[in-house]
Amino acid sequence: MTMREKIEEAASRYPDQRSAIMPALLIAQREHGHLPGPVLEEVADILGVERIWVYELATFYTLFHTEPVGIFHLQLCDNVSCMLCRSEDLLRHLEEVLGIKKGGTTPDGLFTLSTVECLGACEMAPVMQVGDDYHGDLDIARIDALLDRLRATVRQATGADLVAPGPPGE
Ligand code: FES
Repeated sequence: MTMREKIEEAASRYPDQRSAIMPALLIAQREHGHLPGPVLEEVADILGVERIWVYELATFYTLFHTEPVGIFHLQLCDNVSCMLCRSEDLLRHLEEVLGIKKGGTTPDGLFTLSTVECLGACEMAPVMQVGDDYHGDLDIARIDALLDRLRATVRQATGADLVAPGPPGE
């Protein structure tokens, strides 16, 4: 099924095509990995809605990416509950072990690191979203174990021998 067909099928469940923009963007993002301008225009054209409506939603929500992201998008919550549970320490650790700053992507294209507003899972703060999964009650050991698991996933899928980039300057 093409992206157009998937979007049209999803949109058929909504009486107002404007309400179908979110599911359409999710479909388009799964298809393309991110949502560059031409893809946003295509989504608007398929739904027959104003392009600005599609652009507004795509740039407002952190689950949509208008720029390319790594295979794993690490979205660490830095809102109040998570901040009180030391999410700043986790961010510093992630920046160090990945060798990138917030907003960056590792040179191997594996990880993009972002901070986001409340993920709605404060009861398991500090929380990080990776793809569609939430990881809570995080500490540095759990972060390291998670990164190892994610790398192993790709290694299994590709057979590639991935080497984690060290801290800057090493
Ligand atoms: Fe982090 Fe709510 S403040 S999940």
